[in-house]
Amino acid sequence: MLKPIWKALACTLVFGALGTAMAAEPIVIKFSHVVGEQTPKGQGALMFKQLAEERLPGKVKVEVYPNSTLYGDDKEMEALLLGDVQIIARSLAKFDQYTKSVQLFDLPFLFDDIAAVDRFQQSPAGQKLLKSMESKNVTGLAYWHNGMKQLSADKPLRKPEDALDLAFRIQTSTVLEEQFKAVGAKPKPMIFSVVYQGLRTGLVNGTENTYSNFYNQKLHEVQKYVTETNHGILDYMLITTSDFWNGLPPDIRTELDKIVVESTAHANKEAERFNQQDKQHVLDAKTTEIIALTPEERSAWRDKMKPVWAKFEKEIGPDLIQAAQAANQVQ
Ligand code: LMR
Repeated sequence: MLKPIWKALACTLVFGALGTAMAAEPIVIKFSHVVGEQTPKGQGALMFKQLAEERLPGKVKVEVYPNSTLYGDDKEMEALLLGDVQIIARSLAKFDQYTKSVQLFDLPFLFDDIAAVDRFQQSPAGQKLLKSMESKNVTGLAYWHNGMKQLSADKPLRKPEDALDLAFRIQTSTVLEEQFKAVGAKPKPMIFSVVYQGLRTGLVNGTENTYSNFYNQKLHEVQKYVTETNHGILDYMLITTSDFWNGLPPDIRTELDKIVVESTAHANKEAERFNQQDKQHVLDAKTTEIIALTPEERSAWRDKMKPVWAKFEKEIGPDLIQAAQAANQVQ
């Protein structure tokens, strides 16, 4: 029979050891996404993992699940909110249900180029949008670029009339729905992982995406034509839940905040290179003709699509639209 003093000491040792073992368990961050690794988002996620594990050894472990291997884009938001994953980088087109203001990024022909997108995202108005879903426990950590979207189809698209009655796969966005309706086409929301099949089987005739996503999903195998319209953008918001991020030990959160900044810079620097390189890959595959538009031809698409803005102006907010447009001017 142990004397009380020895009992107390034994307890301290056992629970102390347990405590140390528990404290030594790394915090696991599951980062799920839907694209391949050789993409801006894929590389950003890997950089986040590398830096976190280098700088917080034993304290943080990052598991990256690319290519919809853990969750598709239809399930990733729910998984985040349930705490089954801790970080996702979701296309800005897929936040309709959570905030109306982020729909801004889908307005066709809003930004002249990625540099303008970047200027807006870094502006006070852009940064404020990162916090627009806090009431729903979603916190935006950063914007990650993919790039400008192009149109593709199983027939050449030069004029907006060429899109008449064609079915286009879209991301789940009411703005994108209206954008395709504006040219007389039939928009069909579909999750990312089934786009190839949708195009192969003729369920849809065309789509819009960046060269990076187009090539990495092998869409050049099932689309004969790409029209270089640069009519919109496909970028991401890197998000987590406020509960998770605010619940991290402060020293770890501070370090992760820095790592977010660095991995964002890495992903954003790589984005343009990936898109240029994947455009070349599409050309090299010789399966798909890339149609360049004259300025007049591009204007015809803009004239048809831009009236969509008016339908969303109230929801998004005219001031926000103005702030975004102002970013096209280099100050
Ligand atoms: C898409 O659905 O086309 C994109 O949002 C996929 C992605 O994450 O780049």
